[in-house]
Amino acid sequence: MPKLTYLGHAAFLVEGKTHRLVIDPFLTGNPVAAAKAEQIRADFVLLTHGHGDHVGDGLTIAKANGATIIAPYELAMYCQSQGAKVHPMHIGGSFPFPFGRVKLTIAHHGSGMEINGKMAYMGNPCGYLVTIDGRNIYHAGDTGLFLDMQLIGEMNRIDVALLPIGDNFTMGIDDAVKAVELLKPSLAIPMHYKTFGVIDQDPQEFAQKVAAKGFKAKVLAFGESLEI
Ligand code: NI
Ligand code: MN
Repeated sequence: MPKLTYLGHAAFLVEGKTHRLVIDPFLTGNPVAAAKAEQIRADFVLLTHGHGDHVGDGLTIAKANGATIIAPYELAMYCQSQGAKVHPMHIGGSFPFPFGRVKLTIAHHGSGMEINGKMAYMGNPCGYLVTIDGRNIYHAGDTGLFLDMQLIGEMNRIDVALLPIGDNFTMGIDDAVKAVELLKPSLAIPMHYKTFGVIDQDPQEFAQKVAAKGFKAKVLAFGESLEI
């Protein structure tokens, strides 16, 4: 059973039998971060898009651990230019990594970083379907609600869905509840809330509304782990 740890915001650590993955490790400067970048041991760093609150400490962690960054092509090329080992992918594509398969899903959002005062394009943002030790995790990335989530749910047995609920930049609570109805995961975990004032949502409200629709949700405290 892989162990999933919520590091705060959209950051998760996934520890499998043979490999450790970290997704969107925004820790430095994150007021709800549950770990420091130098504490993270990872073999792979998965980045959903080129925004500071997702790329975060990804480069530092990748270089310190000799880890490979998995990211959409344009963002991966940027990370490579900064000295990291990368595995570029893109929407709809999947690849069998030594721990299991990773597939990139669509996300309706942006992806760009200010470099030397100019906005650099980082390609399309994405979500991830990650299979590790036979368990399927869906990390939606930053996205609005989209009907193709129904297709993702039909074609995959999702054990855990990690869904943004913060509103303003992504789905809010009610749209994220609809996402659960489309994805039909065994368990939904809210993310991307409370970090900044504009995304200060109540995750318990999400959990209650998900339960009212007949699905299961669990709010993980920042730093809390779960065997999945
Ligand atoms: Ni973003
Ligand atoms: Mn974000």
